[in-house]
Amino acid sequence: MNILFVGDVVGSMGRDMIKEYVPKLKEKYRPQITIINGENAAGGKGITEKIYRGFLETGAQAVTLGNHTWDNKEIFDFIDDAKYLVRPANFPEGNPGKGIVYLKYNTEEIAIISLQGRTFLPAIDCPFKKADELVQEARKRTPFIFVDFHAEATSEKQAMGWYLDGKVSAVVGTHTHVQTADNRILPGGTAFMSDVGMTGPYDGILGVERDAVIKRFLMSMPVRFEVPKEGRAQLSAVLIDLENKTGKAKKIERILINEDHPFYS
Ligand SMILES: [Fe+2]
Repeated sequence: MNILFVGDVVGSMGRDMIKEYVPKLKEKYRPQITIINGENAAGGKGITEKIYRGFLETGAQAVTLGNHTWDNKEIFDFIDDAKYLVRPANFPEGNPGKGIVYLKYNTEEIAIISLQGRTFLPAIDCPFKKADELVQEARKRTPFIFVDFHAEATSEKQAMGWYLDGKVSAVVGTHTHVQTADNRILPGGTAFMSDVGMTGPYDGILGVERDAVIKRFLMSMPVRFEVPKEGRAQLSAVLIDLENKTGKAKKIERILINEDHPFYS
């Protein structure tokens, strides 16, 4: 089973990259499952129903979220009916939405889990304990389990990768917006990568208009962050190949598309 996972889509430029390249990537790599992290898709903060549906129409089967899940208030109107929207599972009990979804592929099923780190991020429930609970639940149904770990600290992401090695098919990080080159298969058969990277403005800083970010560093004062609407864009993704039956990872490959790394069909 091949999984294509696209990292944090930021604003309209990120959404345009999805429209342009997800069909091309699907044609080239023929993934059975395509997942998009859309937590920054609406102007950098959160997601709307239209954007969520647009991702599904472009070919994604599930959309994961992160720390900006509740930032666009429209989410409260549609999250309960959005079957394929996955928010961090370790948000406190009683939060709307869900942190695990099961997708069907032929006779197989794959569990998609979202978790969020706690280092340099708001205090929420323990992602490791929540992972134990969900992985135990998922393994009763399927060996194919994909985890999007939305976290700031590389150490916390590596810890999650090693913690779940041999128990899930893949642990890939999101949130820090810069693609890391540490994609590997851990000894137990879990594909791992600290961060898949960002899909959106290529010439901003982490997807944000760069002058404002530089000003904040220079002045140490609050500055309004805007997401650029035009300019050069990029797409960051990962392709993971899983063994039939066991769900163990065979291969994890980085995908980066921008003017310095052109796409070849
Ligand atoms: Fe994030």
